[in-house]
Amino acid sequence: MQSSKTQTLTTHYHIQKKRRAEFIDEWRKYRQTVIREEDVALVPTARGMKTGVYMGWDGDRPTRCLDALVHEVDPGAVTTIHRHSWDAILFMVDGSGWTEVDGVRYDWKPWDAVHIPSWSWHRHGNDGDRPARFMSYSSEPTLWTLGMSLLEDAGHEPFASLPPRPKVSGGIPGNDPYSRRLRRVNQETKKRRSGRIHTPYDEQEILATPRGTRTKFLNDRAIGNQASGLTQVMIQFAPGKTQSLHRHPGEAWLYVVEGYGHSFMGIAPDKGQHYRWKKGDLIVVDHFLWHQHFNDDPVNQCRLVRIHMFDSLLETMRTLMDPMVLFEEAEDTLLSAQELSQIEWPEDKRPGE
Ligand SMILES: [Fe+2]
Ligand SMILES: [Fe+2]
Repeated sequence: MQSSKTQTLTTHYHIQKKRRAEFIDEWRKYRQTVIREEDVALVPTARGMKTGVYMGWDGDRPTRCLDALVHEVDPGAVTTIHRHSWDAILFMVDGSGWTEVDGVRYDWKPWDAVHIPSWSWHRHGNDGDRPARFMSYSSEPTLWTLGMSLLEDAGHEPFASLPPRPKVSGGIPGNDPYSRRLRRVNQETKKRRSGRIHTPYDEQEILATPRGTRTKFLNDRAIGNQASGLTQVMIQFAPGKTQSLHRHPGEAWLYVVEGYGHSFMGIAPDKGQHYRWKKGDLIVVDHFLWHQHFNDDPVNQCRLVRIHMFDSLLETMRTLMDPMVLFEEAEDTLLSAQELSQIEWPEDKRPGE
């Protein structure tokens, strides 16, 4: 047999250099700042509810770790039941409805939050007389990146006839690496499968910070959620107030629940642009930009819900990139140094109460 040798004129080094440049060029084209509510079209889906994509592959706004969708369940509708390898958090925006998670029904109202654990069977329904609307944020793009995105739809099957979550072997005694791994994975799975599912809005206190804001956990390990790192916090800004100027890697998003304002986003603390937003918009911090959010209403509060998965992905990046600093706060600027002593917070009420 004659031996043949491939003759390439470009080296591995050149191919890789070109590929890396093309990759980041492509991703720069996907970058967003604010997604307007009116630019998100809700379309009927095979699942039995209407869905629109704020950020995500299926709405032609590709992402790397999270996606953001909005859903509407019509009065009397019940969606199909499905499960997937990723997890998701929900924020209820308008109307009332219910979500069934592994056979347990949770009734919700505006501003409640729900965690859908990976591999849990779930469906949504609306017994009310007007559409129920909610946002969902999932870790699907992360699982997609790893080649581990799996989705199974079971139509309108009752939960009792569906297969259980993937089985995990129990721990066995022993100090060898395999026994240790069995025990570690088993313990972790037990913990992950026993987290909080529903967060009724009234259940958590909204607390004032030294920055002119009040915040409340919606989904977080601090209140017993066992998520992939997905967290949700409501932030209420006093009239005319702002948070500090800072930067961190994306993807971190803010959904505008109430009010209007603007955000500064720039490649340096003094080099950037201002972007206006209003109720229903999604503010997108999708790479390492300096940013600062402002409530532009001089009389009323505004509310944002911030979403990210820094508990897992950012911690990993910090570990791998140390000593590079991945979270920076700017020196106090004139804008951040605010008079806070006269803030009078009104009673914290959700819509319709
Ligand atoms: Fe789902
Ligand atoms: Fe931020």
